[in-house]
Amino acid sequence: MHKPVLLKEVLHFSGEIHPHRILDGTFGRGGHTRELLKLSPTGEVTALDQDLDAITYGCDTFATDINAGRLRLLHGSFHDLKSAVGAEEGRYDVILLDLGVSSPQLDVAERGFSFYHDGPLDMRMNRSQTTTAADVVNDWPEVELLTIFKEYGEIRRPDRVVRAIVQDRKTQRFTTTRQLAGLIERVEGWKRKGHHPATTYFLALRMAVNNELEGLSQALPDLMRALRLGGRLLVITFHSLEDRIIKYAFKESELGFPLFKKVIVPTREEQAENPRARSAKLRIFQRGSGNEDESQYATDAGD
Ligand SMILES: C[S@@+](CC[C@H](N)C(=O)[O-])C[C@H]1O[C@@H](n2cnc3c(N)ncnc32)[C@H](O)[C@@H]1O
Repeated sequence: MHKPVLLKEVLHFSGEIHPHRILDGTFGRGGHTRELLKLSPTGEVTALDQDLDAITYGCDTFATDINAGRLRLLHGSFHDLKSAVGAEEGRYDVILLDLGVSSPQLDVAERGFSFYHDGPLDMRMNRSQTTTAADVVNDWPEVELLTIFKEYGEIRRPDRVVRAIVQDRKTQRFTTTRQLAGLIERVEGWKRKGHHPATTYFLALRMAVNNELEGLSQALPDLMRALRLGGRLLVITFHSLEDRIIKYAFKESELGFPLFKKVIVPTREEQAENPRARSAKLRIFQRGSGNEDESQYATDAGD
């Protein structure tokens, strides 16, 4: 199961502008999509995921909405909006991104995202892409490994782990998650109770394999342009670097403005119920000046 994070807040700030055309750029298991569909009984939701497993699941579970023409489910990446959904300048009332991985991706050993399950060192969200985590660990130069662990993992001194990887890979390629997690455990040891030393290394690898930060930065202008005037882009992040990208892109854009200066975080109750929500942050961007006449958008579903 994947519990949608900050659902109430997403529905509140989407519902405020009475949306008819919604884009969910990160369908996952459709937790947000399901509820967004209810915001407008005559509207339509386009949902994207770069993971084919998510799309296959969605086609089964949401067959009624798809057949009724209420949901368009597409395999593609919001990093390249034009090739995923076409040139859609000004089309959407609401666009949602709920970044990161879904619980099913973490739980299936074969996907290689988690060191708790032994699986191939893969971590690709889109399995038609060629570069896997094994390629990064085995083939990238030492200096690049240091950079991704420092930047994406925010690890101050990854030097000993990287040196050990470079030494070990001379004799045997890394192929499994346990093999890499075992090396990190051996070199780093357990410094904080309950926090596996491989956590941040795995996070950094996943971000590198899926080009998460660069892809996000490059995609934001197209996502903003895909909003109609007065439309909103809602982004949920789980990593401080992602949040920083969103914060400054929203602040500096000439296309609109951040709805709030401060970030929206889950309530204490939600954090207690869903540990995944603890690091979640929501920011909202609105296209235009904020003085648009909302009434003109209230009846244009199906145009
Ligand atoms: C946190 S989950 C979304 C969960 C979803 N909101 C729900 O409630 O079920 C993130 C999903 O986004 C997908 N994803 C991540 N980056 C993507 C991208 N650039 N384009 C399309 N999908 C992406 C992942 O494959 C994953 O299924």
